[in-house]
Amino acid sequence: MPVWSVRETMAQLFSKRADSRLRLAIGFACAVLLLSCATGFALVRAGQTWAVGHPAEQPIPFSHAVHAGGLGLDCRFCHAGVERTADAGMPSAETCLGCHDRVWNVAAQFTPLRAALAGGTAVQWASVSRLPNHVRFDHAAHTTAGVGCVSCHGAVQEMPRTVRAETLSMGFCLDCHRDPTSGQPRAVETTTGGLPAGEAAFTPRPHGLRALRYRHFGVEVSPMTRCSTCHR
Ligand code: HEC
Ligand code: HEC
Ligand code: HEC
Ligand code: HEC
Ligand code: HEC
Repeated sequence: MPVWSVRETMAQLFSKRADSRLRLAIGFACAVLLLSCATGFALVRAGQTWAVGHPAEQPIPFSHAVHAGGLGLDCRFCHAGVERTADAGMPSAETCLGCHDRVWNVAAQFTPLRAALAGGTAVQWASVSRLPNHVRFDHAAHTTAGVGCVSCHGAVQEMPRTVRAETLSMGFCLDCHRDPTSGQPRAVETTTGGLPAGEAAFTPRPHGLRALRYRHFGVEVSPMTRCSTCHR
C-alpha cells in the first residue's frame, strides 16, 4: 500500500494552474483589504470628513474679521461665559443693537435681531463646533488653564465667515490631553484668545485634572485621558 501524502493528494485534486490562480486571488484579496483599511484611516483623519473650513448658513452674515479683527472687540464682549462657565455663550440681540440701532444700521440684514428683541428670544445662530451629546466640554476649564481660543477655533478674528478650523474629533482632544505642554506654543491674547497677553500657557489648576491621578487595577490613570472626563 502506497504511503498516503497530503501533498500528492492535493496535487491530484488541484492542477498547477488552479493553484497559482488561488495564490493570485489570495494576494489580491489581501491587497484590497489593506488598501481599504488605509483609505478608511485616511478619511477619518482628514479634515474634510469633519467639515473643517466650511461655513454654516447663518441668519445674519456676521463677520468676526470686521468685529474682532477690524474693530478689535474682545472675544469676551460677546462670549461672556468663556472664563466662568462650560458654555462660551452667545451675544444677545441687545449687544449687537448697542451699535447697530442708530449707527451702522443696515436694516434688511438686522431683521432677525429685531425679531429676536420683539419676541424675547435669542437669534438662532448655526454652530460649526457642536459636539455630539455624549461628549462633555468645558470652556472655563480650558481658558483658566491658559488654553487660548486659537488652539481649537483657529484665527477666528481673521474669518469673514466662521468656519471649523480643527477636526474637534476625539483624536484631536486626546493629542493635547496626553501632553498639554508639548507642541508649538499656543498664543493667548486678550483680543484673540481671551486671556491677558504674556500669561504662561497651561498653568495647571491646583485642583485641576493634571494634578490628579487615579489608581485602577494597579494602573495609574491620568484624568486627562480617562473616558469619563469627556464622556458621561
Ligand atoms: C460682536 C460680537 C462678537 C465678538 C466680539 C466675537 N464673536 Fe464669536 N460669534 C459671534 C456671533 C454672532 C457668532 C455666531 C455667528 C457665526 O458663527 O459667525 C459667533 C460665533 C463664534 C464661534 C462659533 C461657535 C459655534 O457654535 O460654532 C466661535 C468659535 C467664536 N465665535 C469665537 C470667537 C472668538 C475666538 C472671538 C475673539 C477673537 C470672538 N468669537 C469674538 C459674535 C462675536
Ligand atoms: C462695537 C460696535 C458693534 C457691535 C457690538 C456689533 N457691531 Fe456689527 N458692525 C459694527 C461696525 C462699525 C460695522 C461696519 C463695518 C464696516 O462698514 O466696515 C459693523 C458691520 C456689521 C455688519 C455688516 C457686515 C459686513 O461684512 O460689512 C453686520 C451684518 C453686523 N455688523 C452684524 C452684527 C451683529 C450680528 C452683532 C452682534 C452679534 C454686531 N454686529 C455687533 C459695529 C458693531
Ligand atoms: C480646548 C478647545 C477649545 C478652546 C480652547 C475654546 N473652545 Fe470654544 N468650543 C470648543 C468646542 C469643542 C465647542 C463645542 C461645544 C459643545 O458642542 O458642547 C466650542 C463652542 C464654542 C462656542 C459656541 C457656543 C458655546 O458656548 O457652545 C463659542 C462662541 C466658542 N466656543 C468660543 C470660544 C472662545 C471665545 C474661546 C477662547 C476664550 C474658546 N471658545 C476656546 C472648543 C474650544
Ligand atoms: C490644546 C490643549 C487641549 C485641547 C485641544 C483640549 N483640551 Fe481639554 N483640557 C486641556 C487642559 C490644559 C485642561 C485642564 C487641565 C487641568 O485641569 O489642570 C483640560 C480639561 C478638560 C476637561 C475637564 C474639565 C473639568 O471639569 O475640569 C474636559 C472635560 C476637557 N478638557 C475636554 C476636552 C474635549 C472634549 C476636547 C476636544 C474637543 C478638549 N478637551 C481639547 C487641554 C486641552
Ligand atoms: C479629551 C476628551 C475625550 C476623552 C478623554 C475620550 N473621548 Fe471619546 N470622544 C471625544 C469626542 C470629542 C468625541 C466625538 C467626536 C465626534 O464624533 O465629533 C468622542 C467620541 C467617542 C465615541 C463615538 C465614536 C465616534 O466616532 O463618534 C466613542 C465610542 C468614544 N469616544 C469612546 C471613548 C473611550 C472608550 C474613551 C476612553 C478610553 C474616550 N472616548 C475618551 C472625546 C474624548
